[in-house]
Amino acid sequence: MPSTVLVGAQWGDEGKGKICDLVAGDFDAVVRYSGGNNAGHTIVVNGKKYGLHQVPSGIMYSDHVSVIGNGCVVNPKVVLEEIDMFEADGITTKNLKISGNAHVIMPYHKDLDGADEKSLGDHKIGTTKRGIGPCYQDKVARKGIRIQDLMDEKIFRLKVETALIQKNAILEKIYGLHTYTVEEICEEYLPYARILKPYMAETSQMLNNAVREGKSILFEGAQGTLLDIDHGTYPYVTSSSCCAGGAATGSGVGPGNIDRVLGIQKAYITRVGGGPFPTELTYAEDGGEGLEAEEGETLCQVGHEYGVTTGRKRRCGWFDAVIARYAADVNGLTDVALTKLDVLSAFDTIKVCVAYDVDGERYTSVPEHQVRFEHAKPIYEELPGWKCDITGCRSFEELPQEAQDYVAFIEDLAHTRVTFIGVGAGREQIINRFWK
Ligand code: GDP
Ligand code: IMO
Ligand code: MG
Repeated sequence: MPSTVLVGAQWGDEGKGKICDLVAGDFDAVVRYSGGNNAGHTIVVNGKKYGLHQVPSGIMYSDHVSVIGNGCVVNPKVVLEEIDMFEADGITTKNLKISGNAHVIMPYHKDLDGADEKSLGDHKIGTTKRGIGPCYQDKVARKGIRIQDLMDEKIFRLKVETALIQKNAILEKIYGLHTYTVEEICEEYLPYARILKPYMAETSQMLNNAVREGKSILFEGAQGTLLDIDHGTYPYVTSSSCCAGGAATGSGVGPGNIDRVLGIQKAYITRVGGGPFPTELTYAEDGGEGLEAEEGETLCQVGHEYGVTTGRKRRCGWFDAVIARYAADVNGLTDVALTKLDVLSAFDTIKVCVAYDVDGERYTSVPEHQVRFEHAKPIYEELPGWKCDITGCRSFEELPQEAQDYVAFIEDLAHTRVTFIGVGAGREQIINRFWK
């Protein structure tokens, strides 16, 4: 099996967890390369649902290696909760490895995330408030605390002491919030270190040795292309490189060892938090009216579009081919998994955005300027729905003609072949067309 990056091709929550769990068995190792517990990846196995935030979705395959890579930020408490959850269910975590270079999310990161958001008022990003941005800020400022630092009490104390000089001043003087003592942080974090120590490894070396032995790696992306710090709708993005390129820096495996890039796309689109979203259908409670509000509500209810991490109602909209083409380009997609096609069974007519109208000008690619993107109005083409249950279909030919036409239409617009089609949340509810 060629080493593969699995990447969100929209604004996150595309169904990465499900597809990752589905294909992980074909690989020798699964690596999370970016983000932290802002991610919420759902896997449903034998009717049982797991929501994963830190641990890779390959964890169900006990003899495979699961890695939290150097590009990730780690909340030790959340990792330990996930380890406990799996062990309690008889799923071993003995092959879980955490890079010593991954950064640790500290309590003050969470406080600062919340306070920064509050200070932005109406322009807030709508973060998950998990401390992700402030933790990556410290990493880039070269002031972060890494997993390897956490494992050495002397270094950890020293780093916390140094960090608190600045963090306490900001917390108290700028935001009027409570401050921390070195002692209280050590009291909470050093016990985590003792339990996590066996999991820490030199993961880049380990993965490169595996590549040399001819083994294959699956790189599990978090968030999505339009949330990427460089390629997303800045500043309404997360603070890491979630695009496929991040797989190399976030794992320490060179790009020459990556052969395939599988983009995960929903058959429609959702977004959580603020920022532009051209095909958004607003809800009645947010001022949406008539058919638009009805369609938005149907997508949300049929698709169960509520966040795994924060429980927030996701913003929903029709499939956007402009974004699909953009994601194909910036990630170098070789394949697409189109998830949640079953959700569209509820509609008589399905809309697809084929281009944007920006102040009278037609755009078939993402406008060069953020302001133009914010003004983009979708130009839709309408396709007939199929209005029947497709959750039992297991081959492309079993799908109603209208559903096949919808998939073909998207392939044509996005210039990428649809390799998988999701027809339900379960691991088995999938149509595999080209994956081998
Ligand atoms: P991720 O963050 O990309 O892993 O996606 P999430 O887990 O946050 O959200 C995707 C949701 O859709 C989860 O509730 C999945 O169980 C569900 N899901 C995934 N694929 C399908 C599908 O093909 N059909 C349906 N109905 N649900 C799906
Ligand atoms: P998965 O991996 C959807 C969004 C937040 C917010 C922005 C910044 O489940 O697809 P952050 O806390 O990262 O600083 O928030 O990014 N966001 C996600 N949206 N799915 C995710 O992860 C997300 N992770 C972050 O809602 O708009
Ligand atoms: Mg999610």
